[in-house]
Amino acid sequence: MHALDTEKLPRHLAIIMDGNGRWAQERMLKRIIGHQKGVETVRVIVEECSKLGIRYLTLFAFSAENWLRPKTEVKALMALLKKYIKAEVARMTANNIRFNVIGNRDELPPDVNDAVQEAIDRTERNTGMVLTLALSYGARQEIIRAAARLAADISAGTVNPGAVDERSFSSYLFTATIPDPDFLIRTSGEMRISNFLLWQLAYTELYFSNVNWPEFSRIELHKALRDYQSRERRFGRTSAQLQNRS
Ligand code: FPP
Repeated sequence: MHALDTEKLPRHLAIIMDGNGRWAQERMLKRIIGHQKGVETVRVIVEECSKLGIRYLTLFAFSAENWLRPKTEVKALMALLKKYIKAEVARMTANNIRFNVIGNRDELPPDVNDAVQEAIDRTERNTGMVLTLALSYGARQEIIRAAARLAADISAGTVNPGAVDERSFSSYLFTATIPDPDFLIRTSGEMRISNFLLWQLAYTELYFSNVNWPEFSRIELHKALRDYQSRERRFGRTSAQLQNRS
């Protein structure tokens, strides 16, 4: 295997952290133990990405559809999130990480939302990696929200419908200030996008790992990144065209 080329890392890495429940069930443990182990993996991967120099890391932590899980699991996940965010603010500051959230924040319990706001405020001047958690996030909902906000601006007369293009539409998404992901990792062997960043993933390289999230390690991350580095990204062009570009 080639060594990792730190000059050729994805600028934006997005991860669907899947398999916490299965990891626990395979060991006859409660699902929430899997989520607790999953938080440990989050810590390891966030630190490694920041060390490597990845500029944007986006983690799918809780989907808009996850509210349909049993009440006890939702409650436990919210408690874990709040604990993680509160505990990590100091470390984010030490590592110059800027914290960000995408998703329907209004649906979060007020105490979780307060912790989110505090972490955003306390890290807003940091200039290193931007860590984005997708919380109560669904991509179709995000696109509908963007379309409705755009429609409101059009009816208010501040936007000309003929001038709407991909760039201006993107500015209505939660990810307005974040570039599109270059690389998406999904763990646990599932090969789906599951309503994550549907607009933003248009040209993203996809990688599916069979490892459950609690066991996803630095080594697995490096393996995925080496795979990314072996790919040719053409954005609809031909190989020859890319070689002729300076
Ligand atoms: C998928 O596992 C994972 C989730 C729904 C939540 C991800 C949450 C964490 C890793 C912990 C909290 C996050 C942070 C950022 C502190 P699953 O339960 O869908 O697994 P399964 O498919 O095996 O049931």
